[in-house]
Amino acid sequence: MKHIQSKPLLALLVIAATLGFLGCTFQSKPSSNPQDSVDEEALYRPEFHFTPKSNWMNDPNGMFYFEGKYHLYFQHYPDKNVWGPMHWGHAESRDMIHWEEKPIALYPDSLGYIFSGSAVVDHQNTSGFGTDGTIPIVAMFTHHDMEKEIAEQVDVESQSIAYSLDQGLTWTKYSGNPVIANPNIRDFRDPKVFWHEATQKWVMVLAAHDQVMIYGSPDLKEWTYLSSFGKHAGNHDAVWECPDLFPLPVAGEEQQKYVLLVSNSRNSLASGSATQYFVGDFDGTHFRMDPHFEQELKSKKNFWMDFGKDNYAGVSWQNIQRPSGNRLLIGWMSNWEYATKVPTQGWRSAMTIARELSLKPLDSSYRLISQPVEELQAYQKSLFKEGLIKITPQKPWQQPVRFPAELRISFVKPQSGQLKFSMTSAKGNRVDWGFDVEQNQFFLDRKTSGIVDFSPSFADQAAIAPRLTTQDSIQARVLIDKTSIEIFWDEGLSPMTSIFFPQAPMDQLSIATSKEIVDIVALEIFEIDLSQHP
Ligand code: FRU
Repeated sequence: MKHIQSKPLLALLVIAATLGFLGCTFQSKPSSNPQDSVDEEALYRPEFHFTPKSNWMNDPNGMFYFEGKYHLYFQHYPDKNVWGPMHWGHAESRDMIHWEEKPIALYPDSLGYIFSGSAVVDHQNTSGFGTDGTIPIVAMFTHHDMEKEIAEQVDVESQSIAYSLDQGLTWTKYSGNPVIANPNIRDFRDPKVFWHEATQKWVMVLAAHDQVMIYGSPDLKEWTYLSSFGKHAGNHDAVWECPDLFPLPVAGEEQQKYVLLVSNSRNSLASGSATQYFVGDFDGTHFRMDPHFEQELKSKKNFWMDFGKDNYAGVSWQNIQRPSGNRLLIGWMSNWEYATKVPTQGWRSAMTIARELSLKPLDSSYRLISQPVEELQAYQKSLFKEGLIKITPQKPWQQPVRFPAELRISFVKPQSGQLKFSMTSAKGNRVDWGFDVEQNQFFLDRKTSGIVDFSPSFADQAAIAPRLTTQDSIQARVLIDKTSIEIFWDEGLSPMTSIFFPQAPMDQLSIATSKEIVDIVALEIFEIDLSQHP
């Protein structure tokens, strides 16, 4: 366990933190000079991914669905473009694609910064916060006491609640906070709450150092410790963060399984932040890994939800599932290795596209599948469609493309070499991705994607993802925004998410093969245009 540390970032931000804790409000910082802001808006502001209007954002928080609206809260420092005193920012959407930012929902207070957490719609008013028949929305979050952190105390983090009687717009903090005091565990945060129908109670999962602790409650105020999970499972290179626990139907079978997500801020996957998952059963008290999954976990080491470097702290929406029982998730599209240094000034970081999660039986175990939500299709128009393109080693294929766009690609798996897709800019920036036959893996390389020198770990190595099926045909959906690429290989079995910062807009797509002729069986390009939102 020698690698386990609290995030050093927190310690580095002591001065800003103290000011924030004492209630000082920094002047909103108009970042860099106006000319730069204009340029970075045009070049870097994503078109179909959520970004805060200004300044810092990290984890998605408190996502719930109520009366036709998806709510997204987020870790936010509204006064600077780096991490600092955490608030909950807020955005609303009718389809998880087109977002409208709302006023800040939760401000730091005398108990500390408002760290990550969740929110539930308390339909039965178990909390008693509802008045005159109004259904309360109850948020549970971590209070992080910066004074205690600076004094190197252990009991820095505790859990608190707040409620909203106006559909998530304004919040009142509970007078009895914290509802769970710190039990002498330094890292003790990120509560995710859900209603457990079978045992008729609220259940909450919490990251506690490098494990998950599970609590139960009848009313969201009184919490009882139930069990812990994870001491000897999965990756422990860093403290665990942002857990989530939810049931998913197993595709093609009658049964359902529980999936436990856990984010690791630093880990062996390309040395950055990533989210691992466990598949098992939950009886209202204990989460236990499925024996087949456990067996596979031992031989394969870790199961990652995404194999790119930029999908972290993702959790699922409460109060909404697909008719199939699948869940909806959104992640933070950055990485603690470099999030505070990325070359945008006016705002920092974006969320991933919202994704539908499903579970697939594979090799006698289970795999988590991620697919972009179908709501995106309302903003898409097919621009280009080709039935068969033969790529030869002598003659790469090339075509101008206006991004943002989605590419849908299907090709016959070659017997040797690499098939490589590249997008390039007029300034010679490029992002390469494809399939390597000898390694049987997908790759995503941003080494020469533009501005990469703000952090040594941004572009030091290509991201790789194992190919998990043996089918002859390989398919991918590739979502490309101005500064991000999300590849859903093999119908979402091996997702890869990466950000990049070109010096001119990406505007060309090319396909090359290193050794043999490859048949691209289908290539379709869709524009993505949010200006026409319904
Ligand atoms: C994850 C995380 C959480 C914490 C929050 C602080 O990225 O470290 O564990 O609540 O960010 O902003």
